[in-house]
Amino acid sequence: MIKSKQIQNLDDYTGTILIPVFETYEKSIIPIEYHLASVSSKVFYGKKDTHYIIEKFDCTHVFIGLGKETDYKSIKTIFRRIAAKQSAIFSQKVTLVVNEKFDGNHVEAAVAGLVLGTYNLGHYKKTEKHPFLHKDFVLQYIAQKDFKDAIEKGMKIANAQLETFNLVDLPPNKVNPKYLAHWATEAGKKYGFEVTVFGKDKSTEVGLHSFLSVGKGSANEPQFIIMEYQPKNAKKHIGLVGKGITFDTGGLNIKTAGMVQMKCDMAGAAAVLGSMQLIADLKLPYRVTAIVPACENSVDAHSFMPSDVIQSYAGHSIEIIDTDAEGRLILADGLSYLIKNYKPETVIDLATLTGSAVGTFGYECAALFSNNDELCKALQKSGDEIGERLWQLPLWDAYKSDIESEIADVKNYSGKPVAGAISAAKFLEFFTDEHKSWAHLDIAGVAFGDDEFAKTKHATGYGVHLITKFIENL
Ligand code: BES
Ligand code: ZN
Ligand code: ZN
Repeated sequence: MIKSKQIQNLDDYTGTILIPVFETYEKSIIPIEYHLASVSSKVFYGKKDTHYIIEKFDCTHVFIGLGKETDYKSIKTIFRRIAAKQSAIFSQKVTLVVNEKFDGNHVEAAVAGLVLGTYNLGHYKKTEKHPFLHKDFVLQYIAQKDFKDAIEKGMKIANAQLETFNLVDLPPNKVNPKYLAHWATEAGKKYGFEVTVFGKDKSTEVGLHSFLSVGKGSANEPQFIIMEYQPKNAKKHIGLVGKGITFDTGGLNIKTAGMVQMKCDMAGAAAVLGSMQLIADLKLPYRVTAIVPACENSVDAHSFMPSDVIQSYAGHSIEIIDTDAEGRLILADGLSYLIKNYKPETVIDLATLTGSAVGTFGYECAALFSNNDELCKALQKSGDEIGERLWQLPLWDAYKSDIESEIADVKNYSGKPVAGAISAAKFLEFFTDEHKSWAHLDIAGVAFGDDEFAKTKHATGYGVHLITKFIENL
């Protein structure tokens, strides 16, 4: 982890100085200044998303505009931008001047942003490491108070999110089910949680038939990953499930559009894996059991077929209408297995489940489904605090007919191009054994997006901080 150090003044200092400032106004006659560097308000007055660099006294002064008021996500993005786009200024000493109006959350957001700014999508390019990642790098800060804890927390959050970025952005010929299982095992050793992995044989023996059906057409063996974090002082037991389709071709109902983006179909799994790292790293006093069913939805003579009837761990038979509605099949077994064997008090699943969630909310907000209003409110509140938004859609029984099958207990798709996110959620609900506190987050629109940090779509890390914050706020 990058080291940090509080300093008292900038006497004899040479290096970069990051100075976040709130907006004054364009015609103010008082310039914005710090450490004898000043800038006229005509040029820079702290407007959001602007910055101004002055070289003076062997120092690089970076004035960073925050706007009139700010929030967690804005601060994080602004600082990420500085680290990502002005990387040269990190090749010298860096001091963050903590604005007097900043609290611990603001400092945490700024540091998390700086660390995320080191991310480079060019995994397979011959590029140099961001200077911020150099092992001797120390982030200095000047503040009225001690912000050591906030800085450390910001770094831990960003480190977990960077892991999630890697897992999602690395290609599917690298991140296959075994890669996810290996990642979980190593993270478990490093951060302190137990990991058990069921391969094909063990999954068959246990009866994870629905999960196994999806992976049948792939040369990569499915892996059912179970993670258990059990601190001694645990207050409550939370269960997590993440969709781990390492690539979604659609199966025999092969995708005719958007297949190239389907390496992101394990973003729910990556969010759960990143959350486990962060929860354990922060030593949160809650028991957390997480399941990642990981497999690949491929095309082959062994692939499962539309009109197949398959079995499930819960003992419910499923008619396959569309092999591209595969996420719900692996989640069904993940949810049933978790609820039956671990009985967590609250269960949350995250999945890039439907194009319909993208059609409904676009790239700004995840679709939230839950049978528990208190849980909904708590998730939304946690999300709003850190800028990962959620909005609830209904689970009314009127939608149940969408998944009623004539040949089996349930079918995996209505066959109609309407209310797709809702009927998928109704399908999952069928496998929750009437659990009283369950929430499903369809993150298809928010997990993989376009932004200023790269030219192609890439991971956002959505869910890692949201889930951790939700547990912290319990
Ligand atoms: N992985 C997709 C959903 C998806 C879409 C994720 C866009 C990320 C971005 C999922 O498995 C899928 O194919 N869903 C189908 C279901 C349909 C066949 C019932 C969909 O939503 O179109
Ligand atoms: Zn699919
Ligand atoms: Zn999928």
